[in-house]
Amino acid sequence: MNFIKLTFGRFSAYLLILIIAAGTGCSTSLHAQEHADDPSFFDPVGLMLTWQQDPTTTMTIDWYVVDEDRDVLEFREMGEDDWSSPVTAEPIPFPWSERTIKRVELTGLNPGTYYEFRFGPSSKIYNFRTMPADLRNPVRIAVGGDMMHRQDWMEKTNRQAMKHDPDFILIGGDLAYADGLHPDDQRHRNPQRPRHHNQWYGFLEAYKNTLISEDYRVVPILASIGNHEVRGGYYWRDERRPDDPPYDGTDEWRKLVAPYYFSLFASPGLPGYGVIDFADYMSVLLIDTDHANPIDGEQTEWLDRVLSERQGVQHVFPVYHVPAYPSVRSYNDDTMVRVRENWVPLFEKYGLELVFEKHDHAYKRTHPILNGEINPNGIVYVGDGAWGTETREIGSRQDYDAWYIAEAAAERHFILLTLHGTQRHMKMITSKGKVIDEYPRLLVPAQ
Ligand SMILES: [Fe+2]
Repeated sequence: MNFIKLTFGRFSAYLLILIIAAGTGCSTSLHAQEHADDPSFFDPVGLMLTWQQDPTTTMTIDWYVVDEDRDVLEFREMGEDDWSSPVTAEPIPFPWSERTIKRVELTGLNPGTYYEFRFGPSSKIYNFRTMPADLRNPVRIAVGGDMMHRQDWMEKTNRQAMKHDPDFILIGGDLAYADGLHPDDQRHRNPQRPRHHNQWYGFLEAYKNTLISEDYRVVPILASIGNHEVRGGYYWRDERRPDDPPYDGTDEWRKLVAPYYFSLFASPGLPGYGVIDFADYMSVLLIDTDHANPIDGEQTEWLDRVLSERQGVQHVFPVYHVPAYPSVRSYNDDTMVRVRENWVPLFEKYGLELVFEKHDHAYKRTHPILNGEINPNGIVYVGDGAWGTETREIGSRQDYDAWYIAEAAAERHFILLTLHGTQRHMKMITSKGKVIDEYPRLLVPAQ
């Protein structure tokens, strides 16, 4: 039944493209132009979809407005005539910006189903699809991190990812490189690339330009936190930044040092780490490598409990920023050592097979690792975050250790992860569309 719904939904979407193309030949921008003289027409300046609860039956929709009081959304299953009653959004401040975030969470949806939504009768109509109830048909996830040194680089990789119709984008931190800073803050490390809310405008513009398909399907994202979401980068760094308050373990402190992340991302929300369960077939753990929360202590205790409770789940993926097994930086960097000391034993204890880590601005895949050695029954660590950043040469930082590296390349890329039943397959694709690695090889037909 879900297969039928999914197939019908996709068919409907393609049919919609054909109708639009045949009728108007329009693209998103042309569609907007058609309404340029219509004062009642509304299209938000940005959109972001994510999940706070089960992605098979819910969707969280954020949209951004300037001087607008339109705060209702209507939705319907694609193919139906009638719209839902208007759903009123929760307003959320966009830090130091003239924009306001409007947030709605839709629940009780059908799995594997396309839904249309709009912001009143005179708005553009967008759509999304919920995740399927099971993995009888393949699910595709575009995985990456370190998104946007330059907006055009992010958009270029986005376009490659969108060629594969991903169900969602999974990001391991370092999003807009705003560093949690106020526009007037003088602590920008690179005056040529100011780090503040304009960075987020660029991120959201890239999203709108390239993560919304030609048939107006908005692709959801899930994103864990990275050092560039946080003033100072790491909770322990406040000694080096005497004008920042010291870490005190409160949510108030977290919102102070990472204001954009906690406003713009409904998930994982405070305290900055969490888990999203996809029915009973997948759990994605968005966790925090010392940015707004220490690796050790409460977060590690939480991780132990969450992994313990999900031992029957087929696919469990931690996604975090600073790698346990770096491809560029030193193996002995403090944060990396603490990921290996605190989290890797839990990953091994609960039999995980695949872990995503970022931050080093290169592509890497490790050998399977168990107990600090290469072992065919071990965990493969895939990273290292270069979706839209300058890349770094492999092993170019001091004390880098290569014993664990199976494949690596200084390339901007994303990882196309396909799940089908119990099987999984990854294709690593550069921003130019070149496949530079595949793992496991030909276990599942990729498309
Ligand atoms: Fe980073």
